[in-house]
Amino acid sequence: MLRRYNAAMIREVLRMGDPRLLASARPVRDFATPELLALLADMRETMTHLDGAGLAAPQIGVALRVVIFGFEASPRYPEAAPVPYTVLINPELEALSEEEEEGWEACLSVPGLRGMVPRWKRLRYRGCDAQGRTFERAVEGFHARVVQHECDHLDGILYPMRIRDMRLFGFQDILPLAPGDSAADRTDRDDNE
Ligand code: NI
Repeated sequence: MLRRYNAAMIREVLRMGDPRLLASARPVRDFATPELLALLADMRETMTHLDGAGLAAPQIGVALRVVIFGFEASPRYPEAAPVPYTVLINPELEALSEEEEEGWEACLSVPGLRGMVPRWKRLRYRGCDAQGRTFERAVEGFHARVVQHECDHLDGILYPMRIRDMRLFGFQDILPLAPGDSAADRTDRDDNE
């Protein structure tokens, strides 16, 4: 691939129906390589360009266990607490309680739609950064939701596959508010990516 001035590139995001989104991604073995750093730069550029909260490498056609996520403040998630920008490679997730929470999700690979998805409320995740250093965090709420959504992409799972009540899946501008979902918090969880 030609690269001018080593600039990061906005990559095309695959959309649901593309078989590459259904494949399992393979672990990263070599860290801090020019290829890995270029991939991460492209992913961040793409996520920022699309105002996403997260992105997984398979979404741009790269079958590696790499996800990024995070935002300080986003017009798309005005009420969501900030999530630090995070590179998470070869992730492992562990629920910290049995408790689940339903919440709206959307996905850059499923544009225009959203659905109500159950997720673990609290979890611990472990993985590596770009340099191969391991780290772990215990998180909850929106942060936990984003991590679960992104890591699902590494196993070929898109959020519609987790929806329990398909009546709560539809176009963002058409779907009525779900019971218990106040108008005030409608937008803060509109998009998970
Ligand atoms: Ni997604």
